[in-house]
Amino acid sequence: MAYGLDQFCKDAHDIIGGSGPIQARIDAVAAKLSGLLTNEEFVKATFSADTPAGKRELYHDKAHDFYVLAHVQEGGKRGTPHSHGASWAIYGNINGATRMREYARANPESEEGAILKKSAEYDLRRGDTKAYGPGFIHSTEHPEACWVIRVTGTDLDQIERFRFRKLKDQVLEEA
Ligand SMILES: [Fe+2]
Repeated sequence: MAYGLDQFCKDAHDIIGGSGPIQARIDAVAAKLSGLLTNEEFVKATFSADTPAGKRELYHDKAHDFYVLAHVQEGGKRGTPHSHGASWAIYGNINGATRMREYARANPESEEGAILKKSAEYDLRRGDTKAYGPGFIHSTEHPEACWVIRVTGTDLDQIERFRFRKLKDQVLEEA
């Protein structure tokens, strides 16, 4: 049987509630998410060509406070580098591509303006997933419209997000 949303949520619940380093646990959830993204039945039940841009909550785990979110991304959009503070996020594509960029801070945290140096750039395509742990700095770009599933460690709208701005901070694109 194809790997469905209910089974994914149950697996994620068990893995996140388990022990060990958080990065190992979210990597394990990201591996499970891959199976959901390529399940045509799930995709058909969750998205259609006229689903409006934006996000919808598919599941909230009350015990561990993580969310499974369905995003319709508009094309031609590039976000700014950010981290999710003390929380984490897993990204996975159903179609199209999310262009991910990873950054490392090149100056001490104690200095007010951040200098970010790009450390990696790659595309997440159909079935690809990646887990970003607490404090990990990344940015997303959607060259074309696409469907994305994101799993977040908490309601990220309610916690402090760390956005970096080119006017105040320096973002160095050369690897
Ligand atoms: Fe993010």
